[in-house]
Amino acid sequence: MNSLANYIFFLILTLFCSRKCVINLSCVAAITSMKPGDELNHSQLLESEGGKFNLGFFSIPKTNESYLGIWYAGDPRDKKLWVANRNTPILNNSGLLTIDSTGILKITSGGKTVVNIAPPLLTGSLIARLEDSGNFVLQDETRNSTLWQSFDHPTDSLLPGMKLGYNLTTKQNWTLTSWLNIYTPASGAFTLSLESVQDAFQLVMLKFGKMSKSHIGWELSLG
Ligand SMILES: *[C@@H]1O[C@H](CO)[C@@H](O)[C@H](O)[C@H]1NC(C)=O
Ligand SMILES: *[C@@H]1O[C@H](CO)[C@@H](O)[C@H](O)[C@H]1NC(C)=O
Ligand SMILES: *[C@@H]1O[C@H](CO)[C@@H](O)[C@H](O)[C@H]1NC(C)=O
Ligand SMILES: *[C@@H]1O[C@H](CO)[C@@H](O)[C@H](O)[C@H]1NC(C)=O
Ligand SMILES: *[C@@H]1O[C@H](CO)[C@@H](O)[C@H](O)[C@H]1NC(C)=O
Ligand SMILES: *[C@@H]1O[C@H](CO)[C@@H](O)[C@H](O)[C@H]1NC(C)=O
Repeated sequence: MNSLANYIFFLILTLFCSRKCVINLSCVAAITSMKPGDELNHSQLLESEGGKFNLGFFSIPKTNESYLGIWYAGDPRDKKLWVANRNTPILNNSGLLTIDSTGILKITSGGKTVVNIAPPLLTGSLIARLEDSGNFVLQDETRNSTLWQSFDHPTDSLLPGMKLGYNLTTKQNWTLTSWLNIYTPASGAFTLSLESVQDAFQLVMLKFGKMSKSHIGWELSLG
């Protein structure tokens, strides 16, 4: 009996250890922040602080084109909630996310810039991190201020904390646009945006920039 208990204990310990090793191995590439000069490649992931979201490159098997995206960690459907370069795909899996010496967050491939994700943000202590809300932010670490955030550049998904609509002061316009099809993140036919309709702002669904009859008619008040 005693030896059986010992055996089971040993078995559990072995399972626990091997699980831990597997976890450690798969976590080798995990990163939680990036500074100028750092690079993120296809086999690495940027994890949010609490591990809820991942940012990384994903490939479309049909075309081998790849994109930088954000998704819920462990989502079995693998739904991409944000895509950085939806209209400028990387043609193979050699994309790198980096912050260059001038403070530009960009994707490069084969030494060439594919797309600048954010404008140059010159600050002594620039840091990129993925918040546990799914917001990819560029921050001035010493001032603790956010200089750029993915939540201001929605793709087709609205997460808690994101805005949809229009700020009359800053003229900032947050809209959602569907994927072209289930394989292609490129901007598709449908846009959800705040439009000025008959002297009022309404949240409207547009198809190819035109109002459809089934538009959504919520009236919103603007601050
Ligand atoms: C990605 O970067 C890591 C760390 O620098 C490296 O170990 C790995 O081989 C790289 N993977 C690819 C596909 O380049
Ligand atoms: C994608 O890449 C694989 C492996 O390199 C290759 O065999 C395949 O032909 C490529 N597919 C397309 C559509 O380019
Ligand atoms: C991937 O594409 C880039 C840019 O088009 C090119 O420079 C690079 O050689 C390609 N890499 C591979 C592995 O095909
Ligand atoms: C930085 O700002 C965030 C959000 O405003 C806050 O939650 C956090 O405590 C601040 N951190 C420091 C070190 O001041
Ligand atoms: C916001 O952008 C959308 C899509 O480009 C546009 O149709 C809409 O008119 C803009 N909203 C405002 C209030 O300017
Ligand atoms: C619009 O932007 C201004 C300036 O950033 C801000 O003070 C205001 O609260 C914003 N309005 C809304 C409705 O978010």
